[in-house]
Amino acid sequence: MSKHKKKSCAKDAKHKDSEQESKKHESKQRERARALFLNGETGPWAKKLAEAHDEAVQNQDAQAAPTNCAPTNCGPDYSAPTSIDLVADPVLHAISTRRSISKVGPETPNDSDLREIIRAISSVADHKGLCPWRFLIIRGDDRLRLGAALDEAAGEHRKPGQVNEKPLRAELLLALVSSPQPNPKVPDWEQHATAAGAGHLLELALWQAGWGVMWRSGTLANAPAVRRLHRLSENELLMGWFYIGSVPEAYRARLARSTRPLPDPEQFLDTL
Ligand SMILES: Cc1cc2nc3c(=O)[nH]c(=O)nc-3n(C[C@H](O)[C@H](O)[C@H](O)COP(=O)(O)O)c2cc1C
Repeated sequence: MSKHKKKSCAKDAKHKDSEQESKKHESKQRERARALFLNGETGPWAKKLAEAHDEAVQNQDAQAAPTNCAPTNCGPDYSAPTSIDLVADPVLHAISTRRSISKVGPETPNDSDLREIIRAISSVADHKGLCPWRFLIIRGDDRLRLGAALDEAAGEHRKPGQVNEKPLRAELLLALVSSPQPNPKVPDWEQHATAAGAGHLLELALWQAGWGVMWRSGTLANAPAVRRLHRLSENELLMGWFYIGSVPEAYRARLARSTRPLPDPEQFLDTL
């Protein structure tokens, strides 16, 4: 064999080896993630979720063929096995383990981070692409302005030097505005649904990016003084504020001990 051929054979073999190595590494990583999850290191509730998932898959395998029943009010048919894996799929994992963080730490995503998060969640389902939502960034002293507007709405008069501390529970708040656009085919309620969807996607995206968030509203969110501060037009709705910050270590530890199970999914599913 020529020197050149020998060299290229060795190169091919090396390439194959490294491909196999990376496949092995990938599958090991997947296994490790799954083991971590099953060990409950992401929280006992997550372990329960994984166990419930395995049990559901086993049950499906053991279940008899679908029964013959009339197509009305029969209930869902769970006899076919699922190919959905809440444990292995990182997106479903993030969705199913998401939690609100009521007391966030002082670090926050910067505005460039926020722009990327918004870029990601702008895939929200949106009839006719009307983009009927926006977020307002509230940091620093703007939180005091929000506190003052909430006080005005509540008819609260404080002593000099005292402030409404509610908006100070996080360094960063995002106000969500639902902004329906005039359209003969898309009623306002559909557009509010899109805005709410953007809110839920925001929570998920922040969770996945490692930030803590809690969605808060309250009965005064659409009081005139509060609407004025957010410069809302008549048909717009304030959907509340997202309190955003870091996840404190103490909370991470508490999360690891949490036993909160997910609700029974069957209560959310029925047939006509
Ligand atoms: C539109 C909306 C408004 C909310 N407003 C408040 C609120 O004002 N105060 C509050 O304690 N929780 C509020 N929540 C609930 C919390 O955001 C959170 O979902 C709840 O505490 C349950 O925690 P979890 O998200 O970890 O399941 C609101 C949720 C939504 C979707």
